[in-house]
Amino acid sequence: MKLLIATAMSASIALGTVPATTAATTAAPVAPTVATTAQVGPGFAFGTAWYPEQWPEARWDVDLALMKAAGFNTVRIAEFAWSRMEPAEGQFDFAWLDRAIAAATKAGMVVVLGTPTAAPPAWMSQRYPDILRVDEEGRRAEHGGRRHFSFASARYRGFATRIATEMARRYGRDPRVIGWQIDNEVGPPSFDNEAKVRWAAFLQRRYGTIAVLNDRWSTQYWSQHYDTFDQVPLRQTGQQNPGLLLDFKHFQTDTWVDYVQAQAGAIRAVADKRQFVTTNTMFWNAGFDHFAMHRDLDLAAWDNYIPDGRPDWVANGANHDLVRGYKQRNFWLMETQPARVDWVPLNRSLDAGQTRELAWQAIGHGADAVLYWAWRSALNGQEQYHGALLGPDGQPFPIYDEVRRLGADLSAAAPALTGTAPVAKVAMIYSYDSRWAIDLQRHSRDFDPIKQFVAWYRPLRIASQGVHVLPVDADLAVYPLVVAPALNVLTRPEADRLTAYVRGGGHLVLGPRSGMKDDANALWPQRQPGPLAGLLGATVDQYYALDAAVPINGTYGDATATIWAETLKPTAPDVAVIARYGPSNGWLDGRPAAVTRRVGKGRITYVGAWLDPAAMTRLADGLLRQAAVAPILPGVGPDVEVAERRGAGRRLLVVINHGVVPATLPLPVGARAIAGDLAGTTLPAHGIAVVALDQAGATKR
Ligand code: GAL
Repeated sequence: MKLLIATAMSASIALGTVPATTAATTAAPVAPTVATTAQVGPGFAFGTAWYPEQWPEARWDVDLALMKAAGFNTVRIAEFAWSRMEPAEGQFDFAWLDRAIAAATKAGMVVVLGTPTAAPPAWMSQRYPDILRVDEEGRRAEHGGRRHFSFASARYRGFATRIATEMARRYGRDPRVIGWQIDNEVGPPSFDNEAKVRWAAFLQRRYGTIAVLNDRWSTQYWSQHYDTFDQVPLRQTGQQNPGLLLDFKHFQTDTWVDYVQAQAGAIRAVADKRQFVTTNTMFWNAGFDHFAMHRDLDLAAWDNYIPDGRPDWVANGANHDLVRGYKQRNFWLMETQPARVDWVPLNRSLDAGQTRELAWQAIGHGADAVLYWAWRSALNGQEQYHGALLGPDGQPFPIYDEVRRLGADLSAAAPALTGTAPVAKVAMIYSYDSRWAIDLQRHSRDFDPIKQFVAWYRPLRIASQGVHVLPVDADLAVYPLVVAPALNVLTRPEADRLTAYVRGGGHLVLGPRSGMKDDANALWPQRQPGPLAGLLGATVDQYYALDAAVPINGTYGDATATIWAETLKPTAPDVAVIARYGPSNGWLDGRPAAVTRRVGKGRITYVGAWLDPAAMTRLADGLLRQAAVAPILPGVGPDVEVAERRGAGRRLLVVINHGVVPATLPLPVGARAIAGDLAGTTLPAHGIAVVALDQAGATKR
């Protein structure tokens, strides 16, 4: 460590000297991750996005030495550097990138290369304005920002795959490069003429004939009947048919998947299989179906930011679990903030200790990599105020020491983490179609499908300490409890799979608005839950948007419903009513709010109301008890997060005290802390502990 700092200091140049850092801990670099198409591991990737093109080469070694001193082993390079790699059309310059990769390797880093296609160069925007994105109002984007290209432009695809191919030819067999990130946070869509042509072709592929489209969209309504696919407007908002608006989302998915796969294909045609291909995605992003996007990518990677600097650890954990669900495997945290962002009205910094906490949360939920954004404040450019590890002077900001402490934890824990993955006994179903369908017609402005999802996730996660988030077509058999909140869009084959799950002995719990529509956003011609109504032995008689709380009483005690209430009507004699509404608007009074039915060894339950948090907690506790799902580590306080990673013959707990007072951990016999801050059984405020469980002594689940 001292040696590193000394080297760094001797290499320091006019851009600023490198100070000795103040942290007491020393972070030895952790073993670099070697990611393959089949798995990520062994080891753990820890690092940062690095933009060598923004700095004089003489500074690079100083930066890299500081990275190494923080324990970093990975840099992500070249995304956004298109104007440097192809300074003029067809003229490529990779000499600087060769040198940057060599310098990174010398400092012990492995490299992830980003394709630069989120930021096309000015010569392209000027010479080929047809590649520029057009918004829904018809305005063409200008140069100077990023993501100003059209996702439908064939010419742009050509340029994008060419730069990806050139990069892959040069680095696709380079052992120093472990993987590829395609583009950066793809989106938004374009409404140019090529997009319109593509939309018509997409609809033709989806429906075959215009007659089928007319039928599925009920276009006799308001004389919408279409004679040809090219008559269908390309719109994502406005007073359009719900079928059209949902299909616009399907079109976005199709076009973005195709866009990313065009580059993935170009890279894979040349590169070693050893190198992974991914793209980085955003927080709860609804711009495309992420399950579909990841089908042909090697791993999932996402960018976790806490815009207001006030983490809600449970809700943030839900998003990690969703990302794990994209491929049902461990994932990469490709970007996260050193303390703060710069793109909300008030960019509050995370409290001291929380940046480290959030990294450990990601790991607990299945991250095999943590990379920061940004490394150093760029002297100019749009993100001068963003959190960074180094200031514009090249000196560490205070957050650097916290990250270096994380590096020390990781070097202690990485060997044990290798080959482990998060475990859960509870699954929740997340459906993009359902989210879109509800967002397109909320009926109550307060029915936010993400809030509804988290309202279920929160008590289930807290009580079970492990939830997997899955697509509706996943294999559910291993989970005794599966909860699908607001599964609004449900196709017949999906309903059949869920039926098989229940008949096989599982417990399926549906939340309000489930089983209402098909995948053309048309209402099922039978009442909710549509194709599951027979299995449930009950239907939704009517739904009501609420502007005031409504009392409910049932098996899980007195409760209130807000935002949404549905009355249920049993149609089979063996259906049990487990909750009823109290006096309210006359329609709800005394009517069933939730029902359950045993089906062979399994069970199906429908909860028709948005329950208050305390009732949700009681309900979740009851459902978990019924499914015999116990917490991994019972008796921890409300601010303590517990996650278990298991594999390679090991059981590890990642325990985080998100609170501001110390917590006591009731660890089982034989538990052994291998990294973090545990003192006896006390975990300090914002403290973390990685604990190895003795297989036999571990609490039985
Ligand atoms: C991400 C993006 C990065 C950077 C960061 C700032 O969404 O991928 O390039 O802009 O936000 O928070």
